[in-house]
Amino acid sequence: MSAGALRVVAGSASVGLAASMAEALGLECVARELERFPDGEIHVRLHDEMRDDDVYLVQSTGPPTQEHLTELFLLADAAHRAGALRVTAVVPYLAYARQDRRTATGEPVGLRVVADLLRASHVDRLVVVDPHTPALESIVSVPVETTTAVPLLADALRAEVDIDPGSGPDAVLVAPDLGAAKLVDRYAAELGYDVAIVRKTRLSGDEVATGAVVGEVAGRRPIIVDDMISTGGTLASAVEALVDAGATGPVTVAASHGLMVGPAGDRLAGAGVATLVTTDSLEVPETDVHVVTVGLGDRLGEVVHRLHHGQPLDELAAHR
Ligand code: R5P
Repeated sequence: MSAGALRVVAGSASVGLAASMAEALGLECVARELERFPDGEIHVRLHDEMRDDDVYLVQSTGPPTQEHLTELFLLADAAHRAGALRVTAVVPYLAYARQDRRTATGEPVGLRVVADLLRASHVDRLVVVDPHTPALESIVSVPVETTTAVPLLADALRAEVDIDPGSGPDAVLVAPDLGAAKLVDRYAAELGYDVAIVRKTRLSGDEVATGAVVGEVAGRRPIIVDDMISTGGTLASAVEALVDAGATGPVTVAASHGLMVGPAGDRLAGAGVATLVTTDSLEVPETDVHVVTVGLGDRLGEVVHRLHHGQPLDELAAHR
């Protein structure tokens, strides 16, 4: 396909990130209007001409999730109707990815519903950063491109944690549940520390119970890695299990997406997390934890540049 002009549109959840991505591409975001009708409906309007253009809509879908999703559907439909040749949704944090299967009878497959709505809104392609589920590509019917923040977060950890592998009080990389087992290996490949895994059982939306810690953590400083932090329950329980197992020193957490819902910040601080390293895929609310934020603008800019020019993502792609 010979793509037309490259255009970037910012959704209201990702104004700063879209601007830094556009800057990396030498562009400015398309002028658009977002407002509320008195009954609460969202109204969007794109002001620039888009006929035959290659349009990238940037919108993370953290809380308020439903609003941000609806806005994305409307922006995609608007771009399509304005004549865009191709509409790509750049959704750094994709909501509903944890609902990638039924875990009990009577449940929907939430991710499938969102995927169908994206398609119905004329999204031609989806870009996600470190998606929660590897099943994303089989559930979403439009082409999916994934990229990863892990090397960027690992760089930030290197600067922040200040421990040489194999010297002094060792650090250990920890997966707070089995779902993060592959992710922790990716951090280990970057940083060279040993790995441990905490067994987790989810009791409810914001409560989890942890069991045994697999791996050597006694006397070691834990660096816990996860794809996302929602209520902080997973991390708080993991810290407790690690301390019980003899881990020592300041606790560091790295996560691609810091939703930090409700009291997550207090929960992390209360559990003894000293530092959180995350990205600007979502805006992290004020917390007593020291937060280090890694910008995704340059990386997403490079991803979009390659997609626009029909080039492969290669090393930028998330591991499959
Ligand atoms: C679950 O599998 C995810 O990777 C995260 O561990 C989880 O979603 C975090 O949620 P919360 O912070 O509410 O425990």
